[in-house]
Amino acid sequence: MSSLTIIGNWKMNTTPSTARILAAEIRDRLRTDGETDTLVVLCPPAIALESVSGALNGSGIAVGVQNIYPSTSGAFTGEVSPQMARELAEFVIVGHSERRELFGESDEFVGRKVAAASEAGLRPILCVGESLDIRRSGHAERFVSDQLLEGVSRLDNASGLIVAYEPVWAIGTGESATPEITQMMLATLRHALVSRFGEQAASVPHLYGGSVNADNIRDLVRQPDIDGALIGGASLSAESFAAIVKNAAEICA
Ligand code: PGA
Repeated sequence: MSSLTIIGNWKMNTTPSTARILAAEIRDRLRTDGETDTLVVLCPPAIALESVSGALNGSGIAVGVQNIYPSTSGAFTGEVSPQMARELAEFVIVGHSERRELFGESDEFVGRKVAAASEAGLRPILCVGESLDIRRSGHAERFVSDQLLEGVSRLDNASGLIVAYEPVWAIGTGESATPEITQMMLATLRHALVSRFGEQAASVPHLYGGSVNADNIRDLVRQPDIDGALIGGASLSAESFAAIVKNAAEICA
């Protein structure tokens, strides 16, 4: 069985109580399906972390946060430090295109977050991806490789890292990137990571994100360099999220 990672990003959806219900539904569906060899991670809003961790306790499903601030503690009103998140979560999404676009996060800031997450023992899920304009310009691979290398620039090694390629034009649009485009991009990114950190980086999970559903997941994970997916919209339904995990696991078995 090749390793498979499926991550749900709930974004700013659910409340602490509805998050608990959704997590419990996903837990129950995956328990029935017996998908034990797949790494499954749910990333609820920070305010729902405790209720979701409680619902997932003992299930084998891990929890992640959607964001952190790269400082241990201090006068940063409204922010969550990696150390705070680490008590309830093992993973953190960093550099999502919504944070880059809506909150002005630069590559440099993303790199600080990745380093702060690693130092605190959180596994960073580093998101990278190009806009439609950049894809049309023909420079997508160079642009995304640069984003990746900036994101990891403060790390000494790639241990614990997860890379998620999420083309901006495919997020929430219903139009996912083709398996071929994604395969090419992820092979390029894996190569860039190995050049930076050496052979140990070859085993870093490389995921695809952007309009993944229970149908298109099959052809995506058939590609040699696509190790799983980061799922937004379809992770808000226990039925579709569990179907994605199940269909992907069947292909990778
Ligand atoms: P989507 O979002 O699955 O709704 O396209 C993916 C993401 O933003 O992580």
